[in-house]
This record gives sequence, C-alpha cells and structure tokens, in this order.
Amino acid sequence: MQTKILDCVEDAAAILRCGGLVAFPTETVFGLGADARSEAAIKRLFGAKGRPSDNPLIVHLADFDQWPLAARAMTELGRRVLDHFAPGPITVILPKAESICQSVTAGLDTVGIRIPASDLARQLLRAAAIPIAAPSANLSGRPSGTTWASVLEDLDGRIDAILRADSAQVGLESSVVDCTGSVPILLRPGSVGLEELRRHFPTATAFDGVSSSTSAVSPGIRHPHYQPRAKVRLVTNVESWSPAEAELELKFAYAGIDAPPARTNYCERFADLAAYARGFYEFLRAADRGGADVVLLQVVAAATAEQAGLAAALFDRQRRAAGNCEIPSA
Ligand code: TXA
Ligand code: MG
Repeated sequence: MQTKILDCVEDAAAILRCGGLVAFPTETVFGLGADARSEAAIKRLFGAKGRPSDNPLIVHLADFDQWPLAARAMTELGRRVLDHFAPGPITVILPKAESICQSVTAGLDTVGIRIPASDLARQLLRAAAIPIAAPSANLSGRPSGTTWASVLEDLDGRIDAILRADSAQVGLESSVVDCTGSVPILLRPGSVGLEELRRHFPTATAFDGVSSSTSAVSPGIRHPHYQPRAKVRLVTNVESWSPAEAELELKFAYAGIDAPPARTNYCERFADLAAYARGFYEFLRAADRGGADVVLLQVVAAATAEQAGLAAALFDRQRRAAGNCEIPSA
C-alpha cells in the first residue's frame, strides 16, 4: 500500500468515510484515525500499529453536540468537565454507545471521547461527520508521533494517508479522565493536571496505578510504552552526573533545560518546560536515529502552578520511556 501525503481535508475525510486509515494532527500528538463504527476499519488500525487488542481507543468528535455518536449518555460530570476543558487536550470516559464497535473499547462498556482543539483536526472531523477512533500515530511501543515526518517513519506503507500539518503544539497525549461516576478520576496525566481539575472539582482524584481494578479501569497502563531503543536514565542533578568507568565507550544523548553534562554525544537543550514537552518524543526518535546507547533525561519541576500538570505529564512519560525505573539521585 502506498501512503499518500495529503494537504486537502476533504480528501482525508473521504478516505475515513470509506473505512480507510488516515493520520491527522491534533494539538497533543498526531492521531491515526479510522471509522469507530466499522469493525473492519478498526481491525486494520490495530494491525497497522501492532497494537495489543486489549488497549481501548479514544473516539474523536468535532463538537460537543456530537457526543451521542459515541456515548450512550452524557453524565452530569462529563458535561461539566468538557464544559471547562474542551475543545482541548482532555479525554472523558463515558458510557459507550451501541454503535461504537466492541474492538474500539476492547470490550469495555465505557468509551473515551475527545474534542481536540486543533483547527485542522476539527475541520477533518466535521468533514468526515462520523466518530473517529484515533490512537497516537506511531508503531505500538514507540514514542508518539508529533511531526508528520515521524508518523511517516513508523507507518509508511501501513496506512492510507497522512494529513500534512505543522508539529503538535503540546507534544504529550491528552489527560484521560473517568467521568462515569460522581467524582473525576485522572487515569492518564496530560497537560490538564490534577491541580487544575481540582480548581473546578475539588474532590477529583488520580488513579494510583496499583489498585486491583487496574485492568478494568485503564487497560493501556499495563503495556510498555514510549520506549526508545537506547537505555533511558532519569537525571535530577545534571551538573553532578558523569558516566561510570565501564560506560566510557558508550554513546550518550541528553535532553533537558540545563546545560548538558560534558560527555554527551548528542544533546537537545530546551528553553523551558513547554518546549521540552513539545520536543520530547522527537528527541527520543533522534537519539535512536543517531545510535545513542544511553539517553539521559533531565527531570524538571514546574516553575509555576499553571505548569504543574505539564510537569507531571512529562515526568510520567519519562518514567515510561525508562521502563518505570526508580528515580536515581543524580
Ligand atoms: O492526545 C491523545 O489522547 C491522542 C490524540 C491522537 O488524541 N491519542 C492517544 O491515544 O493518546 P492512545 O490510544 O495512544 O491512548 C489512549 C489511552 C490509553 O491509555 C487507553 O487505555 C485509554 O486512553 N482509554 C481509552 N478508552 C478507555 C476507556 N474506555 N477506559 C479507560 N481508559 C481508556
Ligand atoms: Mg499511544
């Protein structure tokens, strides 16, 4: 199959309506879209990504009014959360509509819905006028795609088309919030963090990731994620870091805000936390392309209360890239 690079929203929408697979930009990361009502389209989507079938997909909509396309009911909580944060980098879990196929939700009775803020994404969703299931547009287990070139790198020949656009603005996936009950539960941290949720919903909680209901609540948590080929190490104190004697021959890549340690072969120094988050996945890909053996990731605290969500989300992705390792002291 030849993957087309498209600039025309209507052409991309037509492919989606015919059951095809189209990668498209959102403000978080690029998504790989398919008709959420079509078992055949969703089966192809899981195949193209190499994604385990027990990890459910998020359904994307152009506007709030379209929620009946994906959800059986709009909970009071869901309405209020969407009212505050959508369109934007948030996904709300609601009771699933009959018309959304089982493979989208991996058999769950709930569905994640998201109204992206990206203009181009909403134009595409409006033109398609169907519910679009879209996981991040990367091979399963690889860093998410935040540029169309990275999407092509992973999925060339495996999908029908890519809607060409600028890089994603936020760079990390949406916050996933369970809104089926009376209290919002943050299942996956994104740029909308627990602090920000609590400003509007004081009793909001975060899923702790260890409760016995893990498999029922957020199946995706079990799977390895965001792992580059290089070994990943988290560093809090960059200045005092140095390689061990036995590692002197290795190739090191570094990403962070502070100046890199002396002995790094490739480095990306970001101006601030937002730039770090935006460039994070591209950096991991570049480190792999450059043949790095070890990737050093600086752990950065939020400088302001507004950045708390983004800092927590970046730290979450850093830990996953490192295979959920413990945080070393240096
Ligand atoms: O920003 C984003 O959310 C991007 C863009 C493309 O919108 N999409 C994305 O999709 O990150 P994906 O498939 O990579 O991640 C979906 C996450 C997984 O952690 C999955 O477990 C969770 O959402 N999820 C989906 N449906 C769920 C449900 N019914 N209950 C609990 N978690 C759900
Ligand atoms: Mg993903």
